[in-house]
Amino acid sequence: MHIKSQLTKIITDALNQLGVTSSNITVTEATKPEFGDYQYNGAMALAKELKSNPREIANKIADIIKTNPIFSDVSVAGPGFLNLTLESTFIAKNLPLALNERAGVAKKSDPIKVVVDYSSPNMAKQMHVGHLRSTIIGDTIANLFEFLGDEIIRQNHIGDWGTQFGMLIAYFEENGKESNSKLSDLEEFYKEAKACFDADEEFAKRAREYVVKLQGGDAKCLSLWSAFIEKSLEHCQDVYDTLGVKLDKSAVKSESSYNDDLAQVVQDFQKKGISTKSQDAECIFFEGSDNPLIIQKSDGGFLYATTDLAAIKFRTQELGAKRICYVVDARQSEHFKQVFAAARRVGYATDDVKLEHIAFGVMLDKSGKPFKTRDGGTVKLKDLIDESIKRARDIISRANEYTPKELEKIAYTVGVGSLKYADLSINRQSNYIFDWDKMLSLDGNTALYMQYAYARINSILNRAKDVAITLETPLIEDELERRLALKILTLDDTLYRAYVDASPHIITGYLYELATLFMKFYELNPILKEGVKEQTKQSRLLIAKAVANAIKTSLNILGIDVLERI
Ligand code: ARG
Repeated sequence: MHIKSQLTKIITDALNQLGVTSSNITVTEATKPEFGDYQYNGAMALAKELKSNPREIANKIADIIKTNPIFSDVSVAGPGFLNLTLESTFIAKNLPLALNERAGVAKKSDPIKVVVDYSSPNMAKQMHVGHLRSTIIGDTIANLFEFLGDEIIRQNHIGDWGTQFGMLIAYFEENGKESNSKLSDLEEFYKEAKACFDADEEFAKRAREYVVKLQGGDAKCLSLWSAFIEKSLEHCQDVYDTLGVKLDKSAVKSESSYNDDLAQVVQDFQKKGISTKSQDAECIFFEGSDNPLIIQKSDGGFLYATTDLAAIKFRTQELGAKRICYVVDARQSEHFKQVFAAARRVGYATDDVKLEHIAFGVMLDKSGKPFKTRDGGTVKLKDLIDESIKRARDIISRANEYTPKELEKIAYTVGVGSLKYADLSINRQSNYIFDWDKMLSLDGNTALYMQYAYARINSILNRAKDVAITLETPLIEDELERRLALKILTLDDTLYRAYVDASPHIITGYLYELATLFMKFYELNPILKEGVKEQTKQSRLLIAKAVANAIKTSLNILGIDVLERI
């Protein structure tokens, strides 16, 4: 479909006729219904080039495109805004597309290989709310790209290397069988290990020895360490499975897996004269910045940045990625800026490779403070998810009667869905204010609202099972129906916009508009009520089906399940 690009082409052709060859033409969705469906506001900027006034230019464009049967109205407003209204027959003719299994969204004509680096927790610390955001946003981005046809390689760049591991494996060894249950709370485990380290000289000595042995490749130490990592990954996997995100062992490509490549990375930079020694450390300097990127410490140790450079090399040269997305907290933006610039200089990332830091803000509580437990500790993700499911259960069971099995399924789907939707529905760059009431609200831009809308349409469609739909295209009998049908058809433009910006909130914004429009439409235009003409009934059913299909498809991309009944 891509209505927007069709319109852009029409305007571009018209401008060509007027002697303009600008390639920078943007048609946008109208901000208000009275401005038509789409707007072109470029006439103002062209006034100089064409030595004419904007209104005149807009009029000229209007004269050229008016005859195109795609439009029912082309008008000029204000200083030179071009308002475009689409012909109902054009919308009606295209609607059946939205009923197919991809809700009318075609795959990209130029699929590429994309690495999405997300979740990536540190094994020495509890997976915290920052990783929850990365996990949820990252998974949606991977789903979206995949849906549009790219080949996605999910990479969970877990932090499993560093001096803390000496202490952790010493403690892990000491606790033998009990370690597993203790590890379910890594924060606690870390604290206890640290307490031993501080209080017990023998333990501290052993921990330090383990670090050296680990780095030297000692077999016993390595096997202890990998047992520790495996156990703590199991806990992460638990969270992934509960959330239903598509991360498993195959996505894990840990920091330590790059250990053997790090010396070569430093050599690559040295050879090309990109890095220099400064106070015995190997540094890469950037123009206009006093902070170099350090890739090797004076004691010979490598750093987080060195590993990230090795990872870029691997991702471009071995995996063949053309776009690499890092779904990581905004606080690391300086790190990524430097790492990306260094990777370009050394040639790990050529110009045809896009490197993107998909940054997101921090999670705050309602009073605007960092999200913590009551006593100031880190909130365990498992607890957060459980709480969401519990709250969903309370709300749902107040509304209706369910069998226990049904209630569990609904509570889980709504609980997890709400947690995800709330995170995805705000611009990822902003800080995210976590608010249970808002998140589980029945109306508003929430998962529950969308899941209700879907279930409601589903129940209408179920009741209409016996209606044979012979009508192929909807009738589009009033303005609301026209706008609703058009909204359905803009799913593809919406998803592509979300794709370019890697911004899931564009999808939730669309969903909210779509569902709200449908509710309004349904209120004014009953479907199964007595007296509704047969053709009209069929037409409205077609539209309802397409709305349900668009909702289900979009929620699926967001990793949220629909419910046939709530
Ligand atoms: N482990 C890091 C952290 O928790 C995030 C890693 C992100 N990915 C990367 N390639 N640096 O802060």
